[in-house]
Amino acid sequence: MKDNTPRAGEQARTAILFVCLGNICRSPLAEGIFRAVVSERGLEHAFHLDSAGTGAWHAGSPPDPRSVATARRFGLDISGQRARQVEPEDFSRFDIILAMDRANVGALRQRAPKEAHERIHLFLDYALGRPEEIPDPYYGGDDGFAAVYRTIREASDALVARLAERDGSARISGQASSTI
Ligand code: 4NP
Repeated sequence: MKDNTPRAGEQARTAILFVCLGNICRSPLAEGIFRAVVSERGLEHAFHLDSAGTGAWHAGSPPDPRSVATARRFGLDISGQRARQVEPEDFSRFDIILAMDRANVGALRQRAPKEAHERIHLFLDYALGRPEEIPDPYYGGDDGFAAVYRTIREASDALVARLAERDGSARISGQASSTI
C-alpha cells in the first residue's frame, strides 16, 4: 500500500496542475495567480503548482505577451514560465488537475488512466461551483485577457481558502494523512 505519511522535516504538498490548450495564455496565468494567492497566505510549503497544455505547438515558449502584460499590470511576473505538453506522468504526479474549458477536460480524460479521472475537473466548477469555462482569449483582444485574469483570481481565492479551511496548512490534500 502507498504510504502518504510525510517523513520527519518533510511536509506533504498538494500538487495542482492547471491545463489549457496551448499553455501560453490561460494556464500560465492560472499558475501565476494561484501561486500569488498561496504566497499571500503564507502557504507556499503546502502546494506544488505547475501548468501544461493538451497541445504541444508552443512547448518551450514563454507565455503569450498579452498574458505576461496582463499579469504585470496586476503585479505578477509570469515571464519565466515555459510551455509544456501534458505528459502521462502528470496523471500520477498531481492530486488535482484543473482544466480551463470542456475541450481540455475531454482531452485529459481521453489520455488519463481510469483511476485518474476523478482528479480532472473544470476549474471554475471545482473552485466556485460554477460549471463554466474560462474562454480562450487567444484570438480576441486585450479585454479578454483582463477578464480571464479576474475570473482566475476569484476562483483561486475561493479554492485556496476552501482547501486551507478543509485541511489546515499542514496538509492540504484530498488524501490527508491520518498521522497528523
Ligand atoms: P491557451 O490559448 O490554451 O489559453 O494557451 C491558446 C494558445 C494557442 C492556441 C490556442 C489557444 N493556438 O491555437 O496556437
